[in-house]
Amino acid sequence: MEFVLFAIIAYLLGSIPSGLLVGKIGFNIDIREHGSGNLGGTNAFRVLGIKAGLLVTVADILKGSLAAALPLWMGTELNGVIIGIVAVIGHMYPIFARFKGGKAVATSGGIILGVNPLLFGIMLLTFFIVLYLSKYVSLSSMVTGIVTLGVTIIQQEYLLTVVIGVLTAFVIYRHRSNIKRIKNKEEPKITWM
Ligand code: G3P
Repeated sequence: MEFVLFAIIAYLLGSIPSGLLVGKIGFNIDIREHGSGNLGGTNAFRVLGIKAGLLVTVADILKGSLAAALPLWMGTELNGVIIGIVAVIGHMYPIFARFKGGKAVATSGGIILGVNPLLFGIMLLTFFIVLYLSKYVSLSSMVTGIVTLGVTIIQQEYLLTVVIGVLTAFVIYRHRSNIKRIKNKEEPKITWM
């Protein structure tokens, strides 16, 4: 029963469509109608600019961190990372935005930031190295998931391995269109790095 309650809270938290809110309130723009059509931070950067992109990314990260921290704050035995996964499902399929949400990257990162800041640092480093080399945000997101999974396997962190395995599977599944575009050399590259 407790799990169901926390799962509902986490799903609703994850469902808060930061990209939609920042776009609509700040710019009167629905970012789902521009760029990649994605509700995440990358498309917010692309369509709304640096400040709005940063705001959306930080808000999406916080959704994961908050959901993961919630069980501990409320003094329950429930595992934060499991509750965090539910927030990522909310982020991908938000009830407040017709179930069309983001690609699981920032909110997944938020969970890891909440439970293992060092691992989050490794994720950030991996992300920016791959971004520097490839110029593809989408590829960097997917490779970061896979590398993080490898790190947890080496460290024999079994619960985190399963959780990151699930999150990485979400990330890759949600990047199906990006994978097609990368193969066809149609994926936009960043120009600022
Ligand atoms: O975080 C999402 C990113 O990896 C790709 O986003 O908008 O380029 O499809 P987008």
